[in-house]
Amino acid sequence: MRSTVNKVSYLRGEVEVAPDKSISHRTVILSALAEGRSRVKNFLQAEDTLTTCSCLQSLGLSIQLQDNELLIDSPGINQLREPEVVLDCGNSGTTMRLLAGLLAGRPFTAVLSGDASLNKRPMRRVLIPLSSMGMRFMARQDTYPPIAVQGGSLQGIEYQMPVASAQVKSALLLAGLQAAGVTTVLENALSRDHTERMLAAMGAQIERQPGRVRVVPGAELSPQDWEVPNDISSAAFFLVAASIVPNSEILLKQVGVNPTRDGILDVLRSMGADLEIINPHTAGGEPVADILVRTAPLRAVEIQGDIMPRLIDELPVIAVAMAVADGTSVVRDAEELRVKETDRIAAITSELSRLGVAIEATPDGFVVDGTKSCLRGAIVNSFGDHRIAMSLAIAGLIADQPTYIENAEAVNVSYPEFWNTIQTLSR
Ligand code: S3P
Repeated sequence: MRSTVNKVSYLRGEVEVAPDKSISHRTVILSALAEGRSRVKNFLQAEDTLTTCSCLQSLGLSIQLQDNELLIDSPGINQLREPEVVLDCGNSGTTMRLLAGLLAGRPFTAVLSGDASLNKRPMRRVLIPLSSMGMRFMARQDTYPPIAVQGGSLQGIEYQMPVASAQVKSALLLAGLQAAGVTTVLENALSRDHTERMLAAMGAQIERQPGRVRVVPGAELSPQDWEVPNDISSAAFFLVAASIVPNSEILLKQVGVNPTRDGILDVLRSMGADLEIINPHTAGGEPVADILVRTAPLRAVEIQGDIMPRLIDELPVIAVAMAVADGTSVVRDAEELRVKETDRIAAITSELSRLGVAIEATPDGFVVDGTKSCLRGAIVNSFGDHRIAMSLAIAGLIADQPTYIENAEAVNVSYPEFWNTIQTLSR
């Protein structure tokens, strides 16, 4: 599908962006651990998270949507059944990596596969530590999907993650809960901590210190009533949009502002954005707030180091903010972008260049000269990556001619209502 985005005069209104994708995945996967009924309010109904539901159904969970609430019935971790079909993880790295951890301790074999994009993404980062705990696996080209995992008796490990990754950390915690002995995961930069918060709420024995999580197996886990906040990674598109489209003001309601996810707020503030955090509170064990954003002149910024895991998914749209900022902005230490749904460094630099942005790729990031950029419409491609599609759409809101986005349906992975939200806010 090709979507057309036209220049707008301003963006105004109040919006609830899509529910959080990371937390929605986890409500389903973690509920599998606890026998009984879990309920989820504000579950993200998008391709990625529905994929997780169908994988868990193949493992014996019963999942239904009733009155806007997801009802999940699990037979309990020990009663999960060997799937009769390949577990199709679609486009979702979170599904595949967390499931590998869940299945590592199950006494059966399961095959995990994905779409063309996911089957090119590295699984070595989970397969190696899980196999050192006792899981067996076979994979295409050693460590690429499709992967077959044969679970069994596991031993706890202490593991220093070479790259900060919440998916790897979560997989090891899920396996650790089923292992003999304690599992400790160490990370150099803090990645999102939803799994730790949720497992603690379920009654798991989780001990946390900065850069270190320890799980002691044995505690009985209980089903929960979850409430999912709206996704800061989806809000990010409108934080940037309202900042760069003249005369705009948007109120983003009930956004998750977990400190392991809110790096974009720090970056936009240091660029001079006008952001106001309203009514901060805790809901469902997560910090939540409304965010009011108004247009402001932006200045260039340099981003690198430990902040990366706190904003990695937002970097494509941060590049769009950099395109109109006064001065030269630099992103370093973001090599992880190269192994996301597409190579996001290659994708965002090639497509924003087509739109007239002075942006250059580097091995681990990009450089944007906002003073030399002049946004004009063009035909651009999402390469099937939801965050690239939405970032290009935001750029299109300030481009002089129409912007045509190929493979625009990619937004359905995380934010099926994205085009409607744009429509509602645009004038
Ligand atoms: C996610 C973790 C991050 C993030 C991804 C979702 C998660 O990936 O980029 O979109 O839900 O745990 P990594 O664990 O690879 O850093």
